[in-house]
Amino acid sequence: MTTGSTKQAVMLPGEGRPRAAIPARTLRTDRWWLTPLSIAGVLAFFVVYTTVRIFMARYYWVSDYHYLTPLYSPCISDSCVPGSTHFGTPLPEIPFFIPLAILTFPVLAGFRVTCYYYRKSGYRSLFLSPQACAVREPHKKYSGETKFPLVLMNAHRYFFYLATILLLINTYDAALALHGKDGGFGIGLGSVIIWVNVVMLWGYSLSCHACRHVFGGRLKHFSRHPVRYHFWTFVSKLNARHGTFAMVSLTTVILTDIYIMAVSAGWINDLRIFN
Ligand code: FES
Repeated sequence: MTTGSTKQAVMLPGEGRPRAAIPARTLRTDRWWLTPLSIAGVLAFFVVYTTVRIFMARYYWVSDYHYLTPLYSPCISDSCVPGSTHFGTPLPEIPFFIPLAILTFPVLAGFRVTCYYYRKSGYRSLFLSPQACAVREPHKKYSGETKFPLVLMNAHRYFFYLATILLLINTYDAALALHGKDGGFGIGLGSVIIWVNVVMLWGYSLSCHACRHVFGGRLKHFSRHPVRYHFWTFVSKLNARHGTFAMVSLTTVILTDIYIMAVSAGWINDLRIFN
């Protein structure tokens, strides 16, 4: 809202007094650009890495120890290498130019892209909307998430439900990764990395805002729902750390994939702890 002297001043919302028209984009003198710039770099790296990996269609399974990278789980096509198909092969052979994770990767990507934390990071770092507090953004209009395509961000809760199913599958994969070379039970560094990743993914999913709503939403009286209140309290504590879980779990997914790729390709040997 503006005053009569439009070019001179801008009305502060609800205050009735004008704000000085400052030609400078910002008066901040600290390195406010460092955080959005570094997050943009990190997000760009993850996007490029995962894109390359899902089209590689190699080095995603270690048959000796039953390690399956989370980027290819579940592998359910006739094109998957033997042993990696823990849930059968309902899909036929897939052409090389289509990723094996054609059904699951869009869910995982959609879950991350529509996540409240990544939305905040992406809007600030990639769309510059805005980059930081007290820094004028380059956009002249703002429609929030009310129009296409950003209105699709509201599908987050559905991605949460689907991603939870995939996380249960990841947990099953992790149990199978406790496999020794001579059969039976075994633990290697790969098993530990896979389990750390699964725990971080659970932390990320359970701290999700949609998860918090599942447990505590639409209730008028917590006192009448003590079990849901108990879980809601637990999830709320995790929710305060959601941003940390988001970045840490993304990192552990990539590290897990790199480790399994390196062992599968024969670049390194798995460090065995037992069997
Ligand atoms: S808000 Fe981040 S995963 Fe749901």
